[in-house]
Amino acid sequence: MADWPTLHVSQHPAVRHKLGILRDVSTEPKKFREVVRELSWLLGYEALADARLRKIDVPTPLEVMHGEELADRIGLVPILRAGLGMVDAMLELMPTAQVWHLGLFRDERTLRPVEYYNKLPNESTVDLSLILDPMLATGGSATAAIEVLKRWGAVRIKLVNLIAAPEGVEAVAKAHPDVEIYCASLDRQLNEKGYIMPGLGDAGDRQFGTGNPG
Ligand code: PRP
Ligand code: URA
Repeated sequence: MADWPTLHVSQHPAVRHKLGILRDVSTEPKKFREVVRELSWLLGYEALADARLRKIDVPTPLEVMHGEELADRIGLVPILRAGLGMVDAMLELMPTAQVWHLGLFRDERTLRPVEYYNKLPNESTVDLSLILDPMLATGGSATAAIEVLKRWGAVRIKLVNLIAAPEGVEAVAKAHPDVEIYCASLDRQLNEKGYIMPGLGDAGDRQFGTGNPG
């Protein structure tokens, strides 16, 4: 296995337990969405561990003390559609975060990302951007999203995924060695259709109940 210094795979027992539920084919969309949300909270907590603080005075009922508040302007960048399910949990963690949606889907034939929604303003308005997408497969979507954010002027970018494939980690690490990747699992490989094995199937379909029953 290659050594990727930018890859952080959570070892937390709660993460590992929840991931088993998420992968299980019998997990229904309602439960699936709940677990995506819970895992996003736990991974977001890890990904934001080095967010910057500034000192402030905090008046407790007894005296004024030296406290801290978040100094970084955080930008959450969910990749539509599947990344949507990760937003609420991250906003619970960082209520002042800005949310910038990016619409990308993977062309099923070429496996290349196609951009269909992007309303970023001309200049970056955040200090730290977290790209949210449950799946890092070939890395095409993540790389495209990182390129959009860098053109926008984003300088500190992190990727938060639930499951990553080695192929996707390699692609992101090679093209963007400055971008740290946080995930719950590094799986074995992609199959011939570009799905992560063992994975969980199609993260968007499983959240939104849109899978093709055939
Ligand atoms: C999935 C997933 C990622 C992408 C990963 O989205 O949520 O965005 O595939 O694959 P990649 O690493 O090979 O680019 P999909 O294209 O299925 O769109 P959806 O979220 O609308 O279902
Ligand atoms: N997108 C998904 O939703 N699942 C995969 O396994 C690969 C890409």
